[in-house]
Amino acid sequence: MLASGGQAKFSQKPARTIDSGRLLVVERKNSKYLSSKKQEQQIYLDYQATTPVDPRVFEAMVPFLLGEFGNPHSALHGFGRRAEAAVRRARQDIAMIVGALPEDVIITSGATEANNLALRGLAEGWRGSPFRLVSIGIEHPSVLEPAARLASAGFDVVILPVEAEGLVDLKRLDRELSRGLALVSVAAANNEIGVLQPIAEIAELCHRHGCLFHTDASQTVGKVPLDMYGMGIDLLTLSGHKAYGPKGIGALVATAESRRLLAPQMLGGGQQDGLRAGTVPVALCVGLGMACRVASTEMQSEGLRLTDYRARLLGALETAVGGVMFNGSALCRLPGNLSVCIAGVDAHQLIAMVPELAISTGSACASSGGHPSYVLKAIGLTDEEIRSSVRIGLGRFTTQDEVDKAADRLATAIGRLRCRESVADCQTIGP
Ligand SMILES: Cc1ncc(COP(=O)(O)O)c(C=O)c1O
Repeated sequence: MLASGGQAKFSQKPARTIDSGRLLVVERKNSKYLSSKKQEQQIYLDYQATTPVDPRVFEAMVPFLLGEFGNPHSALHGFGRRAEAAVRRARQDIAMIVGALPEDVIITSGATEANNLALRGLAEGWRGSPFRLVSIGIEHPSVLEPAARLASAGFDVVILPVEAEGLVDLKRLDRELSRGLALVSVAAANNEIGVLQPIAEIAELCHRHGCLFHTDASQTVGKVPLDMYGMGIDLLTLSGHKAYGPKGIGALVATAESRRLLAPQMLGGGQQDGLRAGTVPVALCVGLGMACRVASTEMQSEGLRLTDYRARLLGALETAVGGVMFNGSALCRLPGNLSVCIAGVDAHQLIAMVPELAISTGSACASSGGHPSYVLKAIGLTDEEIRSSVRIGLGRFTTQDEVDKAADRLATAIGRLRCRESVADCQTIGP
């Protein structure tokens, strides 16, 4: 199977990528990978839950799953050195997309681990004053759960409410930070309502009070420009599978000053300067690096296209059925996010009526747990409005034709559901 120099024969022939509409086939000499099944005929509109792997990312990864299997921490021979070089390049690409330095990048298994490392690692390594954490109530569970664990361990943890638009209340944050030094953790964009926080202003406030600022930018990296040093972010979390990279990889990007305070949570062979032990997954690193490289060049045009598509979808629904309202700020929002409340419609029933559309009621975690969304509750929606809310996520591979089909299917289903409701009302009111 292996050719000389550790290269698989497989990787020598360039792959052919055929994008045949919904069927994406990557052909190689002896095999064929289907990235989506045509027979399902589903339109994928759940890009905040996860993104498909970009074929360019897949292509970059293949050699490192086969011939180039060296251990990057064992660089005394060619196998190890090539793996090490690939990881080094990936670090540069990851650092570049967030305006950081390659040495700031700590590779993790995903955003969950990165958030845990930031919060628990800093709580453990904090020096001087007692550790305090300030965050907001609409954070992802991978921030809120470690925060709850820290609170039950006796640390001072403050979870602030957000304003109705889903934005941080800066005055309240200011007051809270004047009580003493803290780590502030606020996600750059919310995974459910897609609301973008004023990151640079939050960072400025933190630094004025001598506090550290961590942002979970899993939903933001590759979608909206970020500049860690320019914006004053001390620690930043990102995730591969939210940015057209593979699942099972992410990173905590941390400035030298914050790394000095960080206690490792994964102990072992001392890799990554002792901050996160374990052999780094080379193919996943290469995939994440390529995902960042692609996004760096395409983010701007993609953002404009998705903003247009979102307006087109919302406009079509408004014209056809009306009563569709943004959840959270309409302006400060990820380009592809359409979290909306549809008056008079039960979201679960709606989703069941459009099996050809992959959309969700809320975040991937909340949807599978069956609990009403704490994010929508936090921005002041009533229980009925929460039951009527769906999250539609548009992304890189969404086409205008898909947007139009989705609008059409949704409008038909909404019309039918409202009609059913009004018939039921008439029957209860009638004799
Ligand atoms: C904002 C945010 N943070 C963290 C995570 C967890 O990411 P991962 O699956 O990489 O652990 C997600 C994914 O759902 C997310 O949307």
